[in-house]
Amino acid sequence: MLPLSLSETLLPLERPMERTLILVKPDGIQRGLAGEIIARFEKRGLKLVAMKLLQMSDDLAMRHYGEHEGKPFYETLVAYITSGPIIAMVWEGNEAVAAARATIGLTKPVDATPGTIRGDFGMEIGRNLVHGSDSDKGAEKEIALFFAPEEVVDWNRDNDRWISEA
Ligand code: RTP
Ligand code: MG
Repeated sequence: MLPLSLSETLLPLERPMERTLILVKPDGIQRGLAGEIIARFEKRGLKLVAMKLLQMSDDLAMRHYGEHEGKPFYETLVAYITSGPIIAMVWEGNEAVAAARATIGLTKPVDATPGTIRGDFGMEIGRNLVHGSDSDKGAEKEIALFFAPEEVVDWNRDNDRWISEA
């Protein structure tokens, strides 16, 4: 018998699941849209594994949006994201980063497709309601900025087999 490859030795349920950091930005909280926004991810089939309400410090905002330092919108972006409470969450699932970005919609809400969060609730780029990590590596870094490892809950969802083929 031929030796099994690494992928063949993995049980189906051991398929690695991706995680992504999602923020309901201050405008989402102020407008009373937090529940509606969270429901979009929940109904899609992503699994919530961490959540907290907090107001971001300048230091956390600058670390979270460090890639944009030096861009013309950087200062207003930091002022916006620190202007009130946010909800930080980690959602898990197959291709969670891409699934969440598709649910959120394009950065500029006017260009975002109706049916996406930004396309349904947003009008301006500086009030676009939600953040979602843009890569698997980026998600790992961002999750570590907001959550200690023990704050991310590893739990089994009973209806997973109706959402995931694995
Ligand atoms: P996010 O990081 O918040 O999920 O948004 P994104 O990936 O869709 O967009 P990104 O390019 O990472 O930009 C981060 C946030 O900066 C603000 N922005 N303003 N005025 C402008 O030209 C401009 N460009 C970006 C937006 O709030 C955007 O979500
Ligand atoms: Mg981004």
